[in-house]
Amino acid sequence: MIIWDKFIRTFHWLLVLCFCLNYFFLEHGNNVHQIVGYTAAVLVLVRIVWGFIGPSNARFKNFIPSFSGIKSHFHELKKREVKQEQGHNPLGGLMVFSILALFLIQAVTGFLREEVDALYGDSFLTSLHSLSANIIFALAVIHIIAVFITAYFGKIELIRPMLTGKRRVKRNE
Ligand code: HEM
Ligand code: HEM
Repeated sequence: MIIWDKFIRTFHWLLVLCFCLNYFFLEHGNNVHQIVGYTAAVLVLVRIVWGFIGPSNARFKNFIPSFSGIKSHFHELKKREVKQEQGHNPLGGLMVFSILALFLIQAVTGFLREEVDALYGDSFLTSLHSLSANIIFALAVIHIIAVFITAYFGKIELIRPMLTGKRRVKRNE
């Protein structure tokens, strides 16, 4: 069954690329760093529009996190019966909203400390920029571990749909 459309998949891997370039490889703050950072922000803005007009699994209203949703997700994991047709589970939804917001914070803090004369080089904004980059990094690590744990305990294919769009449903014998 189809889980992720082409836009979501392209968005995801480009966002991973932008983050890794800016966090690990490029000189912090140089021109290319800024271009890559703004690219990530544009990707996120388009993703936000897609969250309202895209297909069902991409729509925000279909994965708004709630306590009851998170509780029943853990229950499903315990029974090893995660819903095969779902896009993001409720915990995954919480991660998605947090990461999208943090990328926007990256762009706004980067822009303000670089382009607004009165704030040029502002140390508070720079600390915020650095802090939110570190939080994205921490969330990404948790996210990757969570993908493997959910796939294993929930008996559900997660990585293949983010690569090809499709999930092969595992039937319970
Ligand atoms: C993918 C998004 C981004 C990530 C992950 C990221 C990450 C980082 C990190 C980790 C630093 C080092 C901070 C420190 O000194 O501790 C940094 C510095 C910097 N970033 Fe970004 N950034 C992003 C987007 C942007 C954008 C859109 C701009 C726009 C102007 C920008 C401008 C800067 C500047 C000017 C510095 C140098 C600060 C200094 O002088 O110490 N960044 N960035
Ligand atoms: C810097 C690293 C990463 C970041 C910032 C990141 C961010 C995200 C975001 C924002 C989404 C939501 C996609 C959407 O709805 O638009 C997502 C989903 C997903 N990501 Fe990542 N990701 C990272 C690395 C990875 C890696 C390395 C993998 C593979 C092991 C991965 C596998 C997935 C999967 C399988 C989903 C869908 C989860 C689900 O089925 O609910 N991600 N990621």
